This record gives sequence, C-alpha cells and structure tokens, in this order.
Amino acid sequence: MKLLSVNVSLPKEIDHRGKTVTTGIFKEPVDGRVMLRGLNLDGDGQADLIGHGGKFRAVYVYSYDNYAYWKRELGRTDFTFGQFGENFTVEGMLDDAVHVGDIFRVGGALVEVTQPRVPCFKLAIRMGLEGFQNLLLSSNRIGFYLRVLEEGEVGAGDVIEPVKTDPRRMTVGKVNNLLYFDLGNLEDSRKALRIKALSPGWRGSFEDRLAKAETSGKATEGFRTLIVDRKVPESDTITSFYLVPEDAKPLPSFIPGQFLPFRLDIPGQPTPLTRTYSLSDRPNPEYYRLSIKREPPPGDRPDLPPGRSSNYFHDRVEAGTRLRARSPRGKFYLDPRGERPVALISAGVGLTPMISMLNAIVEAGSGRPVWFIHGARNGREHAMGAHVRAVAGENDNVRAHISYSRPLPDDVEGRDHDGRGRVDGDLLKRLLPDNDLDFYLCGPTPFMKALYNGLLGWGVPEDRIHYEFFGPGSALTEGDGAEAAADCAECSAEIEVTFSRSGLTAKWNPSFASILDMAEGLGLSPDYSCRSGICHTCMCALEDGEVEYVEEPLDPPDPGSVLICCSKPKTDLVVDA
Ligand SMILES: Cc1cc2nc3c(=O)[nH]c(=O)nc-3n(C[C@H](O)[C@H](O)[C@H](O)COP(=O)(O)OP(=O)(O)OC[C@H]3O[C@@H](n4cnc5c(N)ncnc54)[C@H](O)[C@@H]3O)c2cc1C
Ligand code: FES
Repeated sequence: MKLLSVNVSLPKEIDHRGKTVTTGIFKEPVDGRVMLRGLNLDGDGQADLIGHGGKFRAVYVYSYDNYAYWKRELGRTDFTFGQFGENFTVEGMLDDAVHVGDIFRVGGALVEVTQPRVPCFKLAIRMGLEGFQNLLLSSNRIGFYLRVLEEGEVGAGDVIEPVKTDPRRMTVGKVNNLLYFDLGNLEDSRKALRIKALSPGWRGSFEDRLAKAETSGKATEGFRTLIVDRKVPESDTITSFYLVPEDAKPLPSFIPGQFLPFRLDIPGQPTPLTRTYSLSDRPNPEYYRLSIKREPPPGDRPDLPPGRSSNYFHDRVEAGTRLRARSPRGKFYLDPRGERPVALISAGVGLTPMISMLNAIVEAGSGRPVWFIHGARNGREHAMGAHVRAVAGENDNVRAHISYSRPLPDDVEGRDHDGRGRVDGDLLKRLLPDNDLDFYLCGPTPFMKALYNGLLGWGVPEDRIHYEFFGPGSALTEGDGAEAAADCAECSAEIEVTFSRSGLTAKWNPSFASILDMAEGLGLSPDYSCRSGICHTCMCALEDGEVEYVEEPLDPPDPGSVLICCSKPKTDLVVDA
C-alpha cells in the first residue's frame, strides 16, 4: 500500500446554478512533504464543518484502484489526483479490505480509520455530474476517513504500513452498507458499535437505529422471509411467482391494489436492491402472488444492461428461492365491498393490481358493475387473458375488453382480443354507459396521461380517478406554476419552499400532503413512483433547510437528499427539483 498523492485545498466560493457555494472539495496535489496535524493537513480546509473535517475526519482517503472503475463506468479520461475530493490518493486500501478501526503508519504519522465517507452534492459539482454522490454511495467504493493518532510529515511515495487490524473486522464497505442499505440488521449495528474507533457521528446513527427499533418493538420485525412455491409463465414476458411464508405463520393481509417491498440480494450487485411488486391475486392468507415483466434494455439503447431485479426473477428465482419482503403497503387500492361501478383500466404489466381487484370483487360476491379494460401489444405479451375471459363469462356484472395495439397474424379478434388499437378516452366513451364510475389506472406514463386527461375532459371528477405508476411517473396534467404560486390564499406565512431547478419559490400551504404535492400544485412534474417512501424515485438533493417525514421511508434517503413524496418542510427549504 502506498501514498500516491497528497491533495489539499482551502475552501473557496464557486457559482453553482446561480448560487454561491463555499467548498473545499477542489483538492490539488502537493509537491514535497506536508505536515499532517490532528485536524487536517497543512494547507487544507473544509467549508462545512458539520458534514466534513474535525478530528475524526482529518483526512479523506480514496484508492487510485477505483479511478479505473469510474473511468470505465463514466467513460471519462480527465481525472487527476484529488478528483474525488480526497486528501490521500492511495494504492490498494480498497473498501472491502480496510476495516474501520484499522491503524496504519504513513510517513511520520500514525492514523486510524474512523468511518466511511458521506458523499454530498458538492462531490457532484466536483465531478461535473449531477447525482454522482448517489452513484458513489451505491457503488460501495466510497473511501474512508482517518483520525490522526500521531502527527507527522507525509508525502507522495510514502509506504503505508498496517500497524493493527481492528478485532471486529468490519470493512469500510460493510459498515457503509450497514448504515445505508442493510437497515434491518440490528445484530451488525450492535457489532459496529463495538468498534472503538468508530466516529461519534456514525456511532450516533447506529445508536439511534437500535433505540428506535427497541422503542417501536421492531427489534425482531424487519423483513420477513418468503419462499417461492411455484413459478408460472403468464405470457412471453410476464411470469407469476407464488410466495409462501417460511415460518408457516399466516401472511399479513392486504387491500387489493397494494404492493410488497422486497430487498433482493442479487448475485453481482454490490448492495441489495429494493424493488416493489404489486400483489396480483386477491388477498389470501396462504400465499402472495406477484406477476413480473422481464424488463429489457430501453428500445433506443440496446447496449444498456436489462432490468436487474426483473431479469433476476425470470432467470434465477425458482421454486425454493428465499426472498426478503416487508408487509404489503400502498395507497392505490380498492375496497372490494364497495358498491359503485368501477373501471379497472391497464396496459402491459399494469394489469397486476387490476387482477387483484377483479378477483377480490368476485370473491366478495359483489354485484357491482366492473369493466376490466386492458391494452397489450399482442397475444404473446398478453398475460392472464383466459382468466379474465372466464371471470367475465361467469359473472354477469363483469365486462372485459382487451385491445391489441399490434396483433400477430394468429391473434383472433373475438377470441384473443376485442379490437385493434390502444386504450384511450375515446374507447372508454364507446364502451362505458356513462362517466359515473370509479376509475383505476395503471400502465406506462403516456397511457396514463392520455387516459387521465381524457377522463377529465369527459367530466370525471379528479377524486374518482385513482392511479399507480410502476416506473418514474410525473404529474399527469400540466399547469402554470407561477400562477399557482401567486394564487395560494391559505399559505403559511412562516415557511417558504424553493424548487431551485425550476426557479420557483412559494409559501408552504399546510393543506399539502407532501413537498411533492406542493410541487405538483405549482405545476411542476417531479418524478415519483410509489408515493410512499419506498422506491426513492422522488429523491432530490436538499440544498438547504430541514424536513420531517409524514411517513417513515422504508430506507432513509441518501445523505443530503430528501424523499419529497412523504416529507414536509420544518424550516425554509431549498430543494433541487
Ligand atoms: C408500486 C409499484 C408496483 C409495481 N408492480 C410491478 C408488478 O406488479 N410487476 C412488474 O413487473 N413490475 C412492477 N413494478 C416495477 C418494478 O418495481 C421494477 O421497477 C421493475 O421490475 C424494473 O426493475 P429492474 O430492477 O428489473 O430494472 P432496473 O435495473 O431498475 O432498470 C430499469 C430499466 O432501466 C434500464 N437501464 C439500465 N441501465 C441504464 C442506464 N444506465 N440508463 C438508462 N436506463 C438504464 C434497464 O435496461 C431497464 O429497462 C412496480 C413498481 C412500483 C413502484
Ligand atoms: S416516490 Fe417512491 S419514495 Fe418517493
């Protein structure tokens, strides 16, 4: 292990999107030897002493071996020493080899590893790549901080000698993963607290976690293991998975339309993936069913890797595979005992919650009128067609209409589908007796926009239209943000929220359910998906201020970020949206 470059800088002011930001992240290599002191290297400084610096973060170390990885990942060739804001660019010392608590001799100094790095938005500025801090975090090539046990001179070329290995042997990568991704792992959180060298900041985070788990009785809860009982192909692209509990205890029930959050340990992925899948059958204490579409690379980018979780399910998950899931949740659901007529409208794999709703209505013996309207490309991609036709055939209150946008030569109208074309507002007007129904929509964004606006144009009140996005969604209608901001009559005089990327500032109105709700009220269209603090699609950089969560996120957002779908401002806020 070797010190390749010592890099320092004093804080300076830079312009970032029209605002002045003070940062010490632009480190430059130093010639010759430099004195390493208790708080930092001579000539070095940090702007934000809350997030950086101090005796437990006197030196930030990053391995040059990671440079090759990032050059390849980002297709860049312009890196220089200090590129990641590090003080020491080193050879070796990767995150899966160095333990928190290890002690090293470097030059005349003795140093101890105290914590992994917490990347913030300034790293993204340094890299000229928006959101890079999140990439770094999830790559688990994060680097680490040192405390100085003995001051001394250091310089490029110094050999780094291991002096002591921490007996807990928790690597930097492991501790990083534990804090950000392996949240239910209380046992390792306790173990991390036994590392004497762990910085007070990280110690506090693990202590908080354990305290919360104990006070809310969650110490034993966490994720539950489910076992795949059966795997059933439904079409060329969609396969169903029947899951049963490992512990033979009854499964928590759900309301049709809700989904299950999974934490997936996928071989080759550096950290577990969180994904959500709707339950595709009616509630049943014995099993859950998921129906998952294999996600190919985007049509215009066949060079990109295909979807990680969906392909893992299709290719690697078999009967007997164990999966970790939380209990069902989600706000997109239907009360199967209701009596109003409903239209369940979907496209592609968006049919999964609709099948759950349909099956639950039939199971409840309800006579409420149901229109099941579905769009698929053709018979090879169409899932569960025979089931829907059978349900419609056996229940007078259920009508089904299937549209194929590109039927194949052997797809027969009247047998496999009911018409060629897309599902849109005109089709609904032709099929439905009137507009006095509750509408449930799920499908790709263009489909949702067309239908939502079609229904509004047909005079359907907004509160009768319910919808769920499976991927990043956004506001379905467009509005005038400036007007909305000016029009807000009951806004709080206290708190002001700035959406910095849109250049819009408005007073917080306590009637908004979340910051996302406010953004949409102002005519903005931030991305979102689950709206429940699970998928992180809505995550934005929090540039200033504090928020509180109205719904506790499943996993905390990245450092310096906020999940706007489930939070409200506590103080004036600046959000990068
Ligand atoms: C509430 C909810 C319910 C859901 N229910 C279902 C369900 O019932 N059934 C179902 O099938 N899905 C469902 N989903 C979607 C599901 O959660 C996953 O999002 C989906 O399976 C894709 O995940 P993945 O890991 O396979 O793809 P990812 O790995 O997340 O990739 C997504 C896409 O990005 C592409 N990609 C890869 N790299 C890049 C890059 N560098 N740049 C741009 N694109 C790239 C991939 O090729 C792929 O097309 C639901 C989602 C939500 C939020
Ligand atoms: S939209 Fe999923 S976490 Fe906010």
